[in-house]
Amino acid sequence: MQSKSKLIFVTGGLGFIGKHFVKRCLDMGHFVTNVDMVNYAADRFANEVFKKHNNYRHLEEDIAELGHLPESDFLVNFAAESHVDNSIANSRQFCHSNVIGVQRLLELTRAKSAAGAPHFIQISTDEVYGDIVEGRHRESDPLRPSNPYSSTKAAADMLVFGWARTFGLRYNIVRMTNNYGLNQYPEKLIPKSALRMRRGLPALLQGDGSYVRSWLHVEDAIDAILTIMQKGESNTVYNVHGKCELPNKDVVLKIADILGVPEKDAYVLIPNRVGQDVRYSLDDARIRALGWKSVRDFDKELKTVAMEDDFKRFL
Ligand SMILES: NC(=O)c1ccc[n+]([C@@H]2O[C@H](COP(=O)([O-])OP(=O)(O)OC[C@H]3O[C@@H](n4cnc5c(N)ncnc54)[C@H](O)[C@@H]3O)[C@@H](O)[C@H]2O)c1
Repeated sequence: MQSKSKLIFVTGGLGFIGKHFVKRCLDMGHFVTNVDMVNYAADRFANEVFKKHNNYRHLEEDIAELGHLPESDFLVNFAAESHVDNSIANSRQFCHSNVIGVQRLLELTRAKSAAGAPHFIQISTDEVYGDIVEGRHRESDPLRPSNPYSSTKAAADMLVFGWARTFGLRYNIVRMTNNYGLNQYPEKLIPKSALRMRRGLPALLQGDGSYVRSWLHVEDAIDAILTIMQKGESNTVYNVHGKCELPNKDVVLKIADILGVPEKDAYVLIPNRVGQDVRYSLDDARIRALGWKSVRDFDKELKTVAMEDDFKRFL
């Protein structure tokens, strides 16, 4: 992607990562069409702010039912059901949005002439590889998802491969670790723990809290996606690893420390997630070779979230 204005078709651009991406694209002068059906995790407040830009358009539609793909240089697909615990309770909407939705987007892309089809960027996750006790997953590793959420995301990656081989799709798949940052819906570990502690309640830690995740600041994630759009090799998967790998318990204790909550009041243990993944970790040498690396400091950014996020837009 050169620096001149592009037409960018974003899906799920009112979700946590998508809205940071939309904001950056609008600031860069790109024209953004954002298809977001506005589910429970969508940020309506962000949409009102975006609508003040004349290079922004929102379509409140379901990607699985989308009838038309406007002319665009890139299609960046963030739209998905994204919370593992919800997928364990009921997987139906995950199959609908994360699999049928991607199939619909691929078909709409295929219907364009080769020259008119957008470059397809599928936003994926470290969870498609399943867990890894030691070492790091590389892009060539097999996909062994552990839960309904990650299974649907792995299925979507597979659809992209199939459409590339059979129909000549131009694509990149971006597999990122856990994102965190300001204005995330408070169902994920960091915002949920901060919100509970600020209400005088302990954080809820699944199992014994020893499960390790890699934390990627959302602005580092946006830098990574833009780097791939600008310099990435077409039809290639890129892993994107966070700057900090920690057990969930350590993350919760850091939040408690920031908020002045004594350790004894910081958390309670709750029954473990069924199929809990022990650790995720990615080898991201491929994207580092493009000049990207995760730079935001975890302790500093965690403090910003814990102290400044008021979650009012979701409550
Ligand atoms: N959050 C993370 O830590 C993380 C890490 C790696 C990858 N990802 C992936 O990044 C993407 C974005 O994640 P997020 O955390 O921003 O998600 P999110 O749940 O915060 O937001 C998802 C957005 O997509 C929209 N959406 C859902 N289904 C839709 C549909 N069928 N049609 C149109 N819009 C729909 C929702 O309204 C919402 O605004 C997802 O694909 C997710 O799998 C997330």
